[in-house]
Parts: sequence; C-alpha cells; structure tokens
Amino acid sequence: MTMHLELLKIDSLHKTFKKHKVTAVDNASFSIFKGEVLGLVGESGCGKSTLAKLILRLIDADKGSIFYKNKDLLKISNGDMRKARKDLQIIFQDPYASLDPSMRIGEVIEEVYSIHKNVSWHERKNKTIELLETVGLGESYLNRLPSELSGGERQRAGIARTLATDPEFIICDEPVSSLDISIQAQILNLLIELQKRKNLTYLFISHDLGIIASVCDRVIVMRSGKFVEEGQCEAIFINPKHDYTKELLTSSIGFLDKKPK
Ligand SMILES: Nc1ncnc2c1ncn2[C@@H]1O[C@H](COP(=O)(O)OP(=O)(O)OP(=O)(O)O)[C@@H](O)[C@H]1O
Ligand SMILES: [Mg+2]
Repeated sequence: MTMHLELLKIDSLHKTFKKHKVTAVDNASFSIFKGEVLGLVGESGCGKSTLAKLILRLIDADKGSIFYKNKDLLKISNGDMRKARKDLQIIFQDPYASLDPSMRIGEVIEEVYSIHKNVSWHERKNKTIELLETVGLGESYLNRLPSELSGGERQRAGIARTLATDPEFIICDEPVSSLDISIQAQILNLLIELQKRKNLTYLFISHDLGIIASVCDRVIVMRSGKFVEEGQCEAIFINPKHDYTKELLTSSIGFLDKKPK
C-alpha cells in the first residue's frame, strides 16, 4: 500500500483541564497518512478520547496545530470547519451517544442527507436503505428505534450514520468495547472491510493491543497524556521497547490468536 499523502498532521497539541489540573494531552505530535489505520493504545484515562475530541474540535485545545490537508483546523473559519466536519467523523464506544433515542434509525441517517446534501426525499430514502445494507442491516430497520436494536446492531446503525456524510477520516474511539466478545469481531471486520473498500483513514483507539494488532498498520502507545512508543504494529508486538508497552501486551485480552497484518 502506498501511503504518502499526509492527511492529518498534528503538532504540539496540548490540553490541560484546569479545574482538576489534569494534563490529558501533553504536547502530542504525529501524522496520519491517507488510507492508513493508525492505532492509539493506552490504559483508561491516559487521554485517548481527549485527543480525539481535540482533533474534531469538540473541545478547545490550549495550543498546537491540527493540519488537515494543509489547513490548520484551529485557525479556519467556522464555515470552513462546518465543511470539514463532513470529512472528519467519529464512532463512539457507546452508540447511544450518537443515536438520538427518540429518532427512528431511518430518520437518523436521512437527517444527515438533508443537512449535508441537496437530495430529494426519494433519493434520501434509497441512499438510507443502501447504507443500512452496507453495514449489514436492511430496510426492515428503517422504522426501528435505537432501543429496539441489539448492541451490535446499534453500533452498525451508528456506523451507517457516520458513513452518511461520506467521510474521508474516521476516529473509531473504542468502537467495540461495549460489545460482547463474539460481536466484537463482526464489527471489527465490518470496519476493516469499509476502510479497504472506501480507502478510509482511521485513527483507531483501543485500550487493547490485541484488537489494535488485528486492525492497525501502525500504533502509538500513550501514557498519562504522552506518547511513549510508536511504530509498526508487528514490530511493537515482537519487540516492545517500553516497559509500559510490555505491560499492555500482557493485559490485552482480545484477538491475540489473529495474526497481526
Ligand atoms: N471534561 C473534562 N474535565 C476534566 N477532566 C477531564 C475531562 N475529560 C477528561 N478528563 C480527564 O482527562 C484524562 C483523560 O481522559 P480521557 O477520557 O481522554 O481518557 P481515555 O484514555 O479516553 O480513557 P478511557 O479508555 O477510559 O476512555 C482523565 O484523567 C480524565 O479524568
Ligand atoms: Mg476514552
């Protein structure tokens, strides 16, 4: 795979939550290349979700820069940021967070089309059904409420909603950790299949190095807001340099039997 285009370049990104004096992201710098699946691993509370939210400007950074296609997201106008949001999406751990409990699955997805695209009702409906099929659900899910879906189905619906804006870059923040082990593999397979088919770029967040190894090309190991190790998944698996990475390896539960890519 050739991956030369630097899609995102993050430089000295910093965030301290002043009230509790927690530096959640401590001068983080890294790049993500187009078509790449970059893993971000670290134990609970190390700052992974904060980093994700900073990149999408869901929270404000103290300093640093986030270049997306050579434009600093921290400096562009609100209008340009609104446009960029179409391209930059996130899948959360808990699909309840991204699905309005009072809206039917079909409406949740159609809504995205009516905001971002100028398409007729008929076209919206067809596109919605097509997307539901893409994620392994079907037309029969159109009129269901999120509470009428299983956890795995709910995550599939969340993924469909994420795909509706036709994004280029998706942050997957612990996308399977709320699911049963047996369902985790199905959702991971779906995410990887979509990534390949649509040449998507992922920042894939997990506390489990086994999961990271089964889906990522490269991985960054994060501890207390700092990056402690970075490299190809395989190399880190075979020869972890940092003690903390070794600890993570022994505590990873999932998919170790799956050969790293
Ligand atoms: N809004 C906030 N206000 C104050 N502190 C926060 C806020 N959000 C996160 N933190 C703190 O920042 C640190 C990093 O939190 P974050 O949610 O980024 O961790 P995480 O790596 O995603 O953890 P997990 O694996 O459990 O999801 C934690 O110490 C947390 O308590
Ligand atoms: Mg988190």
